[in-house]
Amino acid sequence: MRDFAGKVAVVTGAASGIGFGLATRLAEEGMKVVLADVEEPALQAAVASLHERGFADVIGVPTDVSDAVAVEALAQATLDAFDKVHVVCNNAGVGGGFGKIWEASLKDWQWALNVNLWGVIHGVHTFVPLLLEHGEPGHVVNTASVAGLVPGARVYSVTKHAVVALSEALYHNLRQISAPIGASVLCPGLIDTRIMFGYRNRPVDLRNAADETASRRELERAERIANMSQELGMPPAVVAQKVVDAIRDEQFYVLTHDHFDATIRDRMEDILQRRVPTPYQSELGD
Ligand code: NAI
Repeated sequence: MRDFAGKVAVVTGAASGIGFGLATRLAEEGMKVVLADVEEPALQAAVASLHERGFADVIGVPTDVSDAVAVEALAQATLDAFDKVHVVCNNAGVGGGFGKIWEASLKDWQWALNVNLWGVIHGVHTFVPLLLEHGEPGHVVNTASVAGLVPGARVYSVTKHAVVALSEALYHNLRQISAPIGASVLCPGLIDTRIMFGYRNRPVDLRNAADETASRRELERAERIANMSQELGMPPAVVAQKVVDAIRDEQFYVLTHDHFDATIRDRMEDILQRRVPTPYQSELGD
């Protein structure tokens, strides 16, 4: 898809971080943008800040992407406001689920899978038929992570490997029917966002009891990542530019950092050599 001006984009998780960067960049390209997020005050503030910058065709729709009905309502609100949709960024996501894989609570699994995987499934299931229906060029961007490409390490990486697989299937299926719709999977490294404070949006019924190992680990780790990402993380605006370039150039894998290349290569070589996987050392040393 090469022409953005006047077209319509939907971005989930758009009140913060990468999602807000994407919404801003797409508005700068002249698109009408629907920002969707579960955190309503932050969503209102994000929309207001874009209005203040003169982007009039921007609306916010409170949406929990883990809820299929809410994502359908998001699609309807988009059509009501702007008639069509051309670009969909299934970006909302949460971290968490640290520690040994068997130590994660079932609530850790449910929360992470509900948002990171089901959120993308709902977005693809709901929006792709709408993109196909009007027959104009379009593009779907699913936010995974570099954690979806390196060897699996924790609950989060399970969700992100799944998003990579889903996106590859989407890409090939669209090519099989010669659709004018492109697909990309965004696999960022460390970005300066609020993901480490994702707990703020965790549903009450999926929170761990305060004294569980998983909860303690999560908080400790969140603080460490927060410090590290402010210092070393890439600005979301830089990521958003890479995504716009990928949509224009029909680039599928969007990687933000080169320093994971060797680990990704080792993983593929290990698989082909039938070797045990080389453990992945994250920036946090686990
Ligand atoms: P962020 O926390 O700054 O933004 C995520 C947004 O998603 C927030 O506004 C939050 O309210 C929203 N959200 C959470 N649960 C939701 C739900 N159920 N429904 C709708 N919205 C929901 O974090 P960031 O980093 O911008 O995250 C965006 C995506 O980027 C996520 O998928 C994340 O996994 C991915 N990512 C982030 C990296 C980083 O270093 N920050 C690295 C790799 C991937």
